Amino acid sequence: MSTHDQADHEAHHSDARAPGNFARDATPPELRRDTTGSGESVGDVGVVIVAAGSGSRVGGGELKQFRWVGGKPMLLHSVQMFQRRRDVAMVVCVLPKAFVGDPPPWLFQCDTDRLLISVGGRERTESVANGLEDLPDEVNIVLVHDAARPFVSDAMIDRVVAEARCGHGAVAALPVVDTLKEVDETRRVVRTVERARLWRAQTPQGFPRDLIERAHAQARVEHVSTTDDAALFERLGLPVVVVRGSERAMKITDEEDFPRAEALYATPE
Ligand code: CTP
Ligand code: MG
Repeated sequence: MSTHDQADHEAHHSDARAPGNFARDATPPELRRDTTGSGESVGDVGVVIVAAGSGSRVGGGELKQFRWVGGKPMLLHSVQMFQRRRDVAMVVCVLPKAFVGDPPPWLFQCDTDRLLISVGGRERTESVANGLEDLPDEVNIVLVHDAARPFVSDAMIDRVVAEARCGHGAVAALPVVDTLKEVDETRRVVRTVERARLWRAQTPQGFPRDLIERAHAQARVEHVSTTDDAALFERLGLPVVVVRGSERAMKITDEEDFPRAEALYATPE
């Protein structure tokens, strides 16, 4: 290897954001960046996929977001699904610190020109904030998505993007169908909660870029951490609407969720 090659080689390995020696030709054709005749990208949607959790409720040796479900590693489903879209300019994958310098090789089975890797934080909110910082300039609409929800549909993403383009926050969600009981520490029912207006929030969640950046900046100053991003939006009094999500977009949280997700994946929507 010449000195020049050596420097090149080292540059690739020290820069986790440029998965260097991955062959560009290996990008599956359907994931290639959509280009107009002039070779310009048409997308202005940036996606932050948070995959930096420790999966403590699942446990085991391998991180849940790297485990196989529906025929491939969980995280790869989301990366490929978002990159199939014409409107997506960039997918930022937020990984645990230990994996940033050496991501799992299967992750590069995607359009690597539209893939960035960011480092996760201690809380989910911090992981999202880190991903937001890496979005390129052309991004106007931001989608935040949990890697732990591998089976999101294109139609659902469409609904989220369409609402976010109207200037407010948009959350994929499902109406609650069960009767809800609030209980005390002895499990005695305190009251029945009116469920008619209650929805279960999923991801993706979509936002105009300037507003979600402002919401996260504020959260950082006030040391606020929430389980989703819409909550940061709501804190500032910014409007958020729900759009129809999907049972298939369930979050894999416990070990029992793996067979459940697998079964939902096998069933047509
Ligand atoms: N996540 C993240 N950074 C964190 C915590 C969570 O990027 N510090 C991501 C997870 O990887 C996951 C999503 O946020 O895709 C939703 O979190 P959750 O389902 O709670 O996953 P974990 O935090 O990994 O699991 P657990 O809470 O059981 O440890
Ligand atoms: Mg968690």
